[in-house]
Amino acid sequence: MKVIVTGGTGYIGSHTIVDLLEHNFEVICIDNLSRSNKYALEGIEKITNKKPTFYNIDLCDRNATLKVLQEHKDAVGIIHFAALKSVGESVEKPLMYYANNIDSLLNVLIGMKSFSIPNFVFSSSCSVYGNADELPVTENTPIKNAESPYAHTKQIGEDIIRNFATVNPIQQHILLRYFNPVGAHPSALIGEIPIEKPNNLVPYITQTAIGKLDELTVFGNDYNTRDGSCVRDYIHVCDIANAHTLALQFLIDKKNKTNCEVFNLGTGNGVSVLEAIAAFEKVSNKKLNYTIGPRRAGDVVAVYADNTRAQQALNWNCKYNIEDAMLSAWNWENKMQELKL
Ligand code: WQD
Repeated sequence: MKVIVTGGTGYIGSHTIVDLLEHNFEVICIDNLSRSNKYALEGIEKITNKKPTFYNIDLCDRNATLKVLQEHKDAVGIIHFAALKSVGESVEKPLMYYANNIDSLLNVLIGMKSFSIPNFVFSSSCSVYGNADELPVTENTPIKNAESPYAHTKQIGEDIIRNFATVNPIQQHILLRYFNPVGAHPSALIGEIPIEKPNNLVPYITQTAIGKLDELTVFGNDYNTRDGSCVRDYIHVCDIANAHTLALQFLIDKKNKTNCEVFNLGTGNGVSVLEAIAAFEKVSNKKLNYTIGPRRAGDVVAVYADNTRAQQALNWNCKYNIEDAMLSAWNWENKMQELKL
C-alpha cells in the first residue's frame, strides 16, 4: 500500500518513513528541504535498502501540491509532518508561521478531498495544551491559550481538521500530539540535523559534549520540582515513528470510532533537565559542561503524558527509555561529525 509523507526528510518524518518501509508500505516523500537535509533519503536507503519516491515541492504552492496528490491519488493515506516548528522563531516571525503551517495543511486537505484519499495522520504537539493545570496530560485535558504562534498553528490545524471531518465522512483522521521527541535511529544513520543553533535540550547537550558549543545553560533550577529543574516527557523518535505506522494501520483497518481521533504520544514518565543530563553523562561516559542560568520565558514547569489511549487503541508501546534516547543522540552527533553534516 502507498502512503504519502509530507516533511519526510525532517527529523520525525525520516524516522517514520523507515518504519513505514519496514512495514512494507510504498512511500511518496514530499519536502521543500527548507529546514531539512536531503541526506535523510540516503540514510533511509542505507537502513531499509529501499528508496521513497521524492518530490522537492513547497506545499504552500497549491497547484504543485494538487499535481502530486493527483498523481498518487491511489495512496491509502497521507502523514503530514511538513511545518515550521521552532517556538522561538515563531514568536519573532508569527506571520511566516501562520502562512506556512496553515496554507500547507489546507492545500493537503483540499487535495485529499479532491482525490478522495481516505486516511490522514496529522503531526500535532503537546504544546496545544498550553500550560496544563493537570498532570499527567490526557487527550481530554482542556486546551488553554497557546504559549507561542507555533503552538497556535497546531491548535488551528487541529480545529481545521476537526471541522473538515465533521462534514466529510469519507476522510478519516488521527491527530498525534507528540511530547518531547528525542534520540535517533539505533543505526546512527539518520537523526535530527539542526539547521542552525539548536533550540531543544538534547541536541544542545550533544553539541556541547562534542565541542560544537562551549557549554549548556540549564534554564532554572528553582522550580517546584524534585530537583528544581523543569520536567518533560522525553520520547524516543523511533517510538513516535512506530506510532504513525500503527495509527495509519488503525485507520486502514477501520478500527476508529469517529473520523477524528486524538492520541498523546509520550512515555508517561516525567524526566527533569538535570536527570536528562545525568542520563547522558552515564551512557556517554562524558562529563557535561553546564551551568545553572535564569529561567527561560514561556517554559512550563512540568508536562508529561497519559498515553494509555494510544497504548490501548493502537496497541503501541514505548520500546526505548531516556538512556536509550541519550545514547542514540550521542552516537548520531558523532556520526554527523564523521559525515560533515
Ligand atoms: C526542554 C527543557 C528547557 C535547552 C519544545 C517545543 C514543543 C515540542 C517539544 C514540537 C526545558 C530546558 C532547553 C537548553 C535548558 N516541539 N532547556 N537548556 O520547550 O519542552 O518543548 O519541544 O512540538 O512544542 O516547545 O523543549 O527541548 O526546548 O526544552 O535548560 O539549552 O530543557 O528549559 O525545561 P520544550 P526544549
